[in-house]
Amino acid sequence: MIRESIVITTDLKKKPHIVPMGIIFKKNKIIISPFIPSQTYLNLKDNPYAVINFTEDVNIFVDALLGKKKFKIKPTKKIKSFYLNNALTYLEVKITKFIEDKIRPKFECEILKETSLNSFKGFNRAQLSVIEAAILVSRINIISMQKIKKEINYLKIAIDKTAGKNEKIAWKKLIKKINNKK
Ligand SMILES: Cc1cc2nc3c(=O)[nH]c(=O)nc-3n(C[C@H](O)[C@H](O)[C@H](O)COP(=O)(O)O)c2cc1C
Repeated sequence: MIRESIVITTDLKKKPHIVPMGIIFKKNKIIISPFIPSQTYLNLKDNPYAVINFTEDVNIFVDALLGKKKFKIKPTKKIKSFYLNNALTYLEVKITKFIEDKIRPKFECEILKETSLNSFKGFNRAQLSVIEAAILVSRINIISMQKIKKEINYLKIAIDKTAGKNEKIAWKKLIKKINNKK
């Protein structure tokens, strides 16, 4: 199963890089699959550790996707990295295997430590819509505008019916990005 997370990797100078990424749970391991080229790929090659954050704060998904660099983070204890203040749970992982691929290699990870900061409060449909719309925006240069707009119209139903303030803010940023696409 793929779970949408915020992956924090660090370069050799310990500078954090924060991105949304779908990770796969495979028995007791985790697979991270960054596309090439990407900073996440380079960081994992240089420094084989990562922090997988699970959060309900959809603005972090949107802001990271749209290129924001600064987030509220704190240092992790087991590895030399960082976790999101707003994570419900985060996993400190170590890369144990690299599966090469020219387009989308895989990093298999061992979980060194799991920390829970808050409880999951249930699904919210608007949050799911924001995540789906963020995926569309991440592919804005390869999917037709017609398809993107059609899907956005459907996803908006859950935004109108179930969004809180945070989801509405995240949604607006994505719509602005889509509307600004030439
Ligand atoms: C919900 C979501 C899941 C994503 N999953 C992946 C993924 O599994 N692999 C990937 O390379 N990019 C994924 N992306 C896109 C990356 O977040 C984005 O392209 C990012 O900039 C990665 O490149 P970077 O490491 O150079 O910053 C995802 C985006 C979203 C919104």
